Amino acid sequence: MTSPQAGPAAVLCGLGAVLPPRAVPNAELCAELDTNDDWIRTRTGILERRIAAPGVSTEDLAAAAATQAVESSGISDVDAVVLATTTPDHLMPATAPSVAARLGLTGTAAFDVAAVCTGFVYALATAAGLIATRMARTVLVVGADRMSRLPDPGDRTTRPLFADGAGAVVLRAGDTAEPGVLGPMVLGSDGTHRDLLVVPHGGHMQMQGPDLFRHAVDRMSAVTRQAVQLAGWCLTDVDRVVPHQANSRITAAVGRHLEIAADRRVQNIEYVGNTGAASIPLALAQASADGTLRPGHRVCLTAFGAGLTWGATTLTWPDLKPGRTARPRDVPGAVFDAERVDKVM
Ligand code: ACO
Repeated sequence: MTSPQAGPAAVLCGLGAVLPPRAVPNAELCAELDTNDDWIRTRTGILERRIAAPGVSTEDLAAAAATQAVESSGISDVDAVVLATTTPDHLMPATAPSVAARLGLTGTAAFDVAAVCTGFVYALATAAGLIATRMARTVLVVGADRMSRLPDPGDRTTRPLFADGAGAVVLRAGDTAEPGVLGPMVLGSDGTHRDLLVVPHGGHMQMQGPDLFRHAVDRMSAVTRQAVQLAGWCLTDVDRVVPHQANSRITAAVGRHLEIAADRRVQNIEYVGNTGAASIPLALAQASADGTLRPGHRVCLTAFGAGLTWGATTLTWPDLKPGRTARPRDVPGAVFDAERVDKVM
């Protein structure tokens, strides 16, 4: 599915992200699982991941990131809140209305989108659609997950990969010529491969890693090409690809397929692991804070997740006001707002 270019365009005008303060290095997992630092580093690219404290909810993380994004946008009215998550706090209701309420947005449309690690791109597409059809002028889009809850704590294959975090952007109605305007969206799914990554009711995550790996590389390569082409760009025009952070070897293989070298690929999986729907906005926040992403850069966001699902879009990076208190932390890759996350801990 691709989006038509009709109605007002959606312009990215605010950005926020939070990570829980507790970093869990590979060494800590090695004490509990039959694994080793070298295996995890070389097979996944992950050195450490952030794990939220037991009492911290997806809503807590989402609300902290969303608050930053709204502050950075300078916008006071939000017409809708779209939350991408695989780990809602309840089977019902959705988590988005609680996040909206935490921001004082009662009366505002708010709902969750479930597309696992492609969730943030699906949520962007949904928000852009609300803007294009003039149902909303401003939409808060959040990706938040506590993915560390899903694996069996004793499973060495999945537990090292998944982690927690949240990121958010604000989209507003604007003009197609403005920096920050989202390009055409490409979304897809293939439910015949559902069993490659599944969490059964009441159970733990089951993953067929090698098959998933191959699909991730093929789908992310194809969808990136398609989104770039629909934007009227060539792959050589793209300054930064911001892929879902599932595995650094997946990102590298996509880079090889598309001839996009490492210096044009945004990567923070080393320090955050796979944070599900939070992965892309967390990577955007890190890259924006450390100067990897600069105003005017031509950017492609690309994602793949369970379902299977995939999606991509493009934008020219805008000159964003940094979130009031957002700052890079001591490790590269960790955009961390101590004040706010401590408040929700
Ligand atoms: N430590 C040590 N050994 C391990 C570990 C571990 N943590 N995990 C698996 N192994 C072993 C396996 O048991 C296997 O041993 P065997 O050969 O004796 O049977 C060996 O390592 C190789 O296992 P593979 O699964 O073939 O390893 P692979 O190189 O494929 O890496 C991995 C596994 C990292 C999971 C990889 O397949 C992958 O990243 N797949 C994609 C995962 C992914 O993208 N997930 C998310 C996408 S969707 C979303 O983000 C929600």
